[in-house]
Amino acid sequence: STTRLTFFVNGKKHEVDHVDPRTTLASYLRNQMHLTGTKIGCNEGGCGACTVMISDQAPESGAIQHYSVNACLMPVCSVNGKAVTTVEGIGSLVRQRLHPIQERLAKAHGSQCGFCTPGFIMAMYALLRNYPQPTEEQIDVALQGNFFLVKLLSLFTINQ
Ligand code: FES
Repeated sequence: STTRLTFFVNGKKHEVDHVDPRTTLASYLRNQMHLTGTKIGCNEGGCGACTVMISDQAPESGAIQHYSVNACLMPVCSVNGKAVTTVEGIGSLVRQRLHPIQERLAKAHGSQCGFCTPGFIMAMYALLRNYPQPTEEQIDVALQGNFFLVKLLSLFTINQ
């Protein structure tokens, strides 16, 4: 029916009926799916703590495209038919080990208090899905939505 929402989260199909259209993707992931790796900091698109990766098909070419989004700004209804990857989907819960991005961030002491770390990881993950050898400019653009202060450390970990 038209009230059913269907999307994929970390590779698993998820179907739900009658979602409140005011629900954001970030709160849905955390409260309904208990995927609390996606953090809510500012809840208004400013900090990047809620970053997840969306994958869908480009309307014209049909090619699969990946991009990072602020899940706190995104209505969950807008991911109908799309795939969402959260930090749980790339790291230890699913694969029993850290993703190389997580490993290097930890090794370089790049997480500070850790609250914004999942968002950073997902922004870097989406970047590397699109550009396995990113330029400094591409790294800049990919991380501009995340806290600026930790950017240098992130640069360091990506280039290691
Ligand atoms: Fe700060 Fe989403 S919680 S950008």
